[in-house]
Amino acid sequence: MQKLTVELGSRSYPILIGDGLLEKIGAHVAPLLRRPRTMIVTDEHVADLYLARVGTSLAQANISFSSLALPAGEGTKSWEGLSRLTEWLIDQGIERSDHVIALGGGVIGDLVGFACSIVKRGCAFVQVPTTLLAQVDSSVGGKTAINVPAGKNLIGAFHQPALVVIDPATLASLPPRELRAGYAEVVKYGLIDDADFFAWCEANGAALLAGDTGARHRAIAHSVAAKARIVAADERETQDVRALLNLGHSFGHALEAETGYSDRLLHGEAVAAGMALAHQFSAAQGLCPAADAARVRDHLASVGLPHSLASAGVGTGGTALAAHMAHDKKVRGGKLPLILTRGIGQSFVTEEYGLDAVAAFLDGAG
Ligand SMILES: NC(=O)c1ccc[n+]([C@@H]2O[C@H](COP(=O)([O-])OP(=O)(O)OC[C@H]3O[C@@H](n4cnc5c(N)ncnc54)[C@H](O)[C@@H]3O)[C@@H](O)[C@H]2O)c1
Ligand SMILES: [Zn+2]
Repeated sequence: MQKLTVELGSRSYPILIGDGLLEKIGAHVAPLLRRPRTMIVTDEHVADLYLARVGTSLAQANISFSSLALPAGEGTKSWEGLSRLTEWLIDQGIERSDHVIALGGGVIGDLVGFACSIVKRGCAFVQVPTTLLAQVDSSVGGKTAINVPAGKNLIGAFHQPALVVIDPATLASLPPRELRAGYAEVVKYGLIDDADFFAWCEANGAALLAGDTGARHRAIAHSVAAKARIVAADERETQDVRALLNLGHSFGHALEAETGYSDRLLHGEAVAAGMALAHQFSAAQGLCPAADAARVRDHLASVGLPHSLASAGVGTGGTALAAHMAHDKKVRGGKLPLILTRGIGQSFVTEEYGLDAVAAFLDGAG
C-alpha cells in the first residue's frame, strides 16, 4: 500500500492506494470514528459490484452501517439527488462527527461531498473512488457540487474529505470507454508541467488501458501526487496554480455543452479533445512548437480518445462554441482565462486572447 498526504495544515488528509483496499477499509476508517457507525452512499451499479465487500470489511471492524444506492449517472448530481441524500442522512440520525463513505465515481463523490458540507453545517466524509477519473482527479481536492439547468457544477462548496481510499483493482470492472475517459485526466498532469510523465504516458498508456496493473498503479500514484501538490499550494484556486488543472477544460466544456452533457461525449473525452485544441491554438499563436501539438494529438488518437472537433463529433461553428465558453464559471471581469502552453509540460494561464480569436481558430480547426 502506498500513502500520500494532502498537506492542508489541520485539515491535512491521507490518500491510501493499494489493490484490495476495499476489503480492508474497516480498519482504515475505524480510527476516524467517534462511534462505531457509518453511512455508505453509492450508486446502483457500484452497489452491485462493491457494496458487499465494503460492508463485510466494516462489519469485521465492528462498525455498523446503513447504505443508500442512488441511480447511476450525472442526473443524480442534482437538487433532487441532494435533497434525497441529505434527508436520508438526517433520517439515519447522522451526527457531525460521523464519517459518510462515498463509494463510486465522481458523481457520487461530488454529491456526497456537497451534502456533507451542509448537513448539520458540515460533517466528515471519506472518498472511495471507483472510476479512473475519480481516482486520479475528483476524489482529491475538496471541490464538491451539483449541476443545475444553467450549468454543470454551479452550486457547490469546497469541503475536503478526511481520507481517500483508492483500490485500483476496482478498475477491472470499469467499462473501457470510462477507463479511457479517465486516462485523459492522467495525460493532463504530464501536459501541465511534467514532460517526463507525458513521455511515460506515450510509452505506457496503451498497456495501462489494456489492463497492466503496474502501469495503473504508477499512473494513479503519480497523478494523485501531482493533484495533492497543486491543491496544497492553491486550495481555493485563488492563484493561477490550481487553475492549471483546467487545461483542456475550457475548450472541453464548450464541446460538452454542444453535445448536451450526454453520452455522446464523456467529460474525459471532451477534455482530451480540449487539450489537443489548446495545444493547437497555442501553436497557431506561435507560443508552442507545432511538433508538440502534433505529439499530443497523436498520443490521444493512438489510445482512441478524441483529439479534434471532428473526432469529438462536433461540427458546430467557432462562434457558437466560443459562446459556450463565455458562460464558463471561470470568467473574471468578462474575460475567460485560458490555459495555453509553450510546449509539452509548460502550460500557463493567460487572459491575453479574446473569444473572437478563439472562435476564428475553431472555425479553421476541423
Ligand atoms: N470534484 C472534482 O474536482 C471533479 C473533477 C473532475 C470531475 N468531476 C465530476 O466527476 C463526475 C464524473 O465522474 P465519473 O467519470 O467517475 O462518472 P460516474 O461517477 O458517473 O461513473 C461513471 C459510470 O461508471 C460506473 N462505475 C463506477 N465505478 C465503477 C466500477 N468500478 N466498475 C464498473 N462501473 C463503475 C458508474 O456507476 C457510472 O455509470 C462529473 O460530474 C464531474 O463533474 C469532479
Ligand atoms: Zn476534468
